[in-house]
Amino acid sequence: ASPNIDSQALLAWYDRHARVLPWRARKGQRQEPYRVWLSEIMLQQTTVKTVGPYYAKFLAQWPTVTALAAAKLDDVLRAWAGLGYYARARNLHACAVAVVERHGGVFPDTLDGLRDLPGIGDYTASAVAAIAFDADAVPVDGNVERVVTRLFAIEEALPAAKPRIKELALSLLPPSRSGDFAQAMMDLGATICTPKKPACSLCPWNDVCLARERGDQETFPRKAPK
Ligand code: ADE
Repeated sequence: ASPNIDSQALLAWYDRHARVLPWRARKGQRQEPYRVWLSEIMLQQTTVKTVGPYYAKFLAQWPTVTALAAAKLDDVLRAWAGLGYYARARNLHACAVAVVERHGGVFPDTLDGLRDLPGIGDYTASAVAAIAFDADAVPVDGNVERVVTRLFAIEEALPAAKPRIKELALSLLPPSRSGDFAQAMMDLGATICTPKKPACSLCPWNDVCLARERGDQETFPRKAPK
């Protein structure tokens, strides 16, 4: 779909500019699925900055999914206090219990296996599959939607464009390093391909981006009128 968009250019950019975040593994290493899953649930409606201390606290208190499953729900809710959206904390605990009861405390390594767990939707399943297991998957969050709709100048509005965005994101996936690719897309969206005044001069894809060619980067993604 996109012969001239070079995923290796994005990975090379990521090798130099990846944000250092508590839930990321060292370069060339995979992160444990428990840590990926925990961070991705926390990051769903909460900023990177806020999540940091909560992530550290959870890991210190419950270093494994088995430990979290054995915790009292009340203790988990207490540790979650301040992150908001408490349904996430209830689902977190239910998912830990399911991983222990159904899988002996080992996270499944496939998209389908992950999606079957409580509280894990397409985004989280894709993030864990890609980042923890380097499976062929791309988690599409708001950052990734912005990057992809700009690269391809997608005129269709959100949310109707979501399937097309997912398909194009998958078409960019390199043959290895799915986890780095996922997090590179997130970092590109968070630090370069920002909603307002994107820093295109620093973007590894500035020579192939259709929105930039047209000079209307900020108008993507298109949104359906309310
Ligand atoms: N937002 C959601 N998941 C993230 C991740 N793995 N790294 C940075 N930001 C994120």
